[in-house]
Amino acid sequence: MKLFDTHCHLNNDLLYKGLDAVIKRALTVGVDKMVVIGWDYQSSLKALDIASRYPFIYATVGVHPNDIENVDKVLLNQILELSKHNKVVAIGEIGLDYHYTKDKKIHQQQKDIFIEQIEFANRAGLPIVIHSRDAFADTIKILQDHKPVHGGVMHCYSGSVESLDEALSLGLYIGLDGPVTYKNAKTPQKVAIEVPLERLVLETDAPYLTPQARRGTVNEPANLIYIADEIASLRQMSKKDLLDAVYNNACRLFKL
Ligand code: NI
Repeated sequence: MKLFDTHCHLNNDLLYKGLDAVIKRALTVGVDKMVVIGWDYQSSLKALDIASRYPFIYATVGVHPNDIENVDKVLLNQILELSKHNKVVAIGEIGLDYHYTKDKKIHQQQKDIFIEQIEFANRAGLPIVIHSRDAFADTIKILQDHKPVHGGVMHCYSGSVESLDEALSLGLYIGLDGPVTYKNAKTPQKVAIEVPLERLVLETDAPYLTPQARRGTVNEPANLIYIADEIASLRQMSKKDLLDAVYNNACRLFKL
């Protein structure tokens, strides 16, 4: 069975220092495609470096909303220019994150940089990888006003079942991660059941969000199997049918 981890940070030091072993363990359980996600200039560069060394690994470049502090126009352009590399499959992760700050000025800066990156992706013919935390309404509003014309994914979707339709009507894929395996995570589990199969992709967000079965350890792409197991069981469908569908979805999303 083939698995596709659509969102991991092999460019994070926790994974990068043991990269070959991490990748080997992923391949052993069937994870044969991975997208390494950038969050600033250095991490985007590193994502590219990793992707150029392994034929089955792809990269995204972009600025995460929590990393905008020193990003001016020049630096933003330098980051987005990295997308010319032939292993770049999307702009990301980009979006809004109000979790760590209530400062309206910073929220506005996040919005401006988010919009610039969506518009760049649209010109470059690339989908986007969206990060949204404690900012769902504003994220949707921006996406409605600046439609990602080459598609995208709501990474680690944390909204309600009711809000799902808004993301789906924008043509977006829904990414689910380790939280679906947490015992108290009723909302992600409901979402896992309700999301149309043809819009679902699976991601680890490694080294973060370790699935329940491995909690206390550093997350890595091999742990995608625990997310797949949980979602197959929640949806009462065979693991093979689930994996076939989400693998094809991921290939469609990233045009692979
Ligand atoms: Ni991430």
